[in-house]
Amino acid sequence: MTGPGSKAGVNRQVMVVRRAKGVPTPDCFQIVDSPVPQCPAGGVLLETLCAAVDPAMRGWLSEERNYMTVSDGEVMRAHGVGRVLESQDERWVPGDLAYGWLGWQRYAAVASSALLWPVDETVAPAPVWLSVLGLNGLTAWIGLNLLGRPVRGETIVVSAAAGGVGGLVGQLAAHRGLRAVGIAGGASKTELARTRLGFHVAVDYKAAAGDLGRELTRLLPDGVDIFFDNTAGPIADAVFPVLNGGARIVQCGTVAVPDWTTLPTGPRRERDILVKRLSWHGLVVFDHMARFEEAFADLKDLYRSGVLTARHDVLRGLDMAPGALGRLYDGTNNGRLMIDVGL
Ligand SMILES: NC(=O)c1ccc[n+]([C@@H]2O[C@H](COP(=O)([O-])OP(=O)(O)OC[C@H]3O[C@@H](n4cnc5c(N)ncnc54)[C@H](OP(=O)(O)O)[C@@H]3O)[C@@H](O)[C@H]2O)c1
Repeated sequence: MTGPGSKAGVNRQVMVVRRAKGVPTPDCFQIVDSPVPQCPAGGVLLETLCAAVDPAMRGWLSEERNYMTVSDGEVMRAHGVGRVLESQDERWVPGDLAYGWLGWQRYAAVASSALLWPVDETVAPAPVWLSVLGLNGLTAWIGLNLLGRPVRGETIVVSAAAGGVGGLVGQLAAHRGLRAVGIAGGASKTELARTRLGFHVAVDYKAAAGDLGRELTRLLPDGVDIFFDNTAGPIADAVFPVLNGGARIVQCGTVAVPDWTTLPTGPRRERDILVKRLSWHGLVVFDHMARFEEAFADLKDLYRSGVLTARHDVLRGLDMAPGALGRLYDGTNNGRLMIDVGL
């Protein structure tokens, strides 16, 4: 029998077999069962407990080469939390939990450089280290605090507000005394944003359709000081006109743009940037590793004290992985999307 901490059974892996134009479909992947690997020399063998499903994966699998392309025939790259089974690195011992590049696979035989930080289950259970205490939390914290430069009483607008990152930006912003306005798709997500995720106001961009700009002008007569943008596209087009002088735009993601091989067209904003003295910052969270310790300390305190709540959308088993990415783009995910691998 295969149980936690044991090495029996097979190593189920999700391999990349073809590239995608746009959102990766299930036929981009193949599930393969192979023998459980040996612990590599100087490295670590882990049993993966949970693995992330991230929008960035679309770029890694696109036909266009990306700065983090995953090649055909490789295990799909992913962050995950795993339990150390064997170690040839003195920094890790069997039983430790670690966060790192484990991939979509049951057992990960990795160089120790793939392990990014230890996971402490006395602080929070393993899945929370993929959300509040993982990439989502760090991205929200760094984007808001370092690039957004918030001042108490200011107004922030967040797109994809009910998602893994957006929902944490709302909670952090409310805690910092900002007036937080969320934009999300559908009545249940806007309701969630208002009642659970710290947003004072939430706008359903799907219901507003072409009137989103007018709706924002009506709701925000005093304008917007920070725009935390996860989507780009038509939502960003609607937010630009309500930005105040000196506003900061945190470009965290571009989920609304299906493909960058042909540049999307839209309003030109250079004049707004000039006249309103806007600052438009690209965010790549791993550029800010020097601030991770400070971010972690704050995120842990806020999680322990109940200020930040984790919302997870968990897919049961690696067999669900090939269809997982589509959920981020049709909006059917409800919170941090991840795979419970230990099944
Ligand atoms: N820069 C970095 O270092 C970094 C790190 C991590 C994540 N990110 C970015 O953060 C963003 C959020 O990531 P996440 O993991 O938390 O995902 P998420 O927000 O939980 O899921 C993606 C959400 O995007 C929305 N969406 C999808 N297609 C859309 C469209 N055409 N127009 C408007 N909204 C659309 C959907 O919400 P609705 O149902 O509301 O439409 C969907 O639930 C992504 O852009 C991701 O790339 C950036």
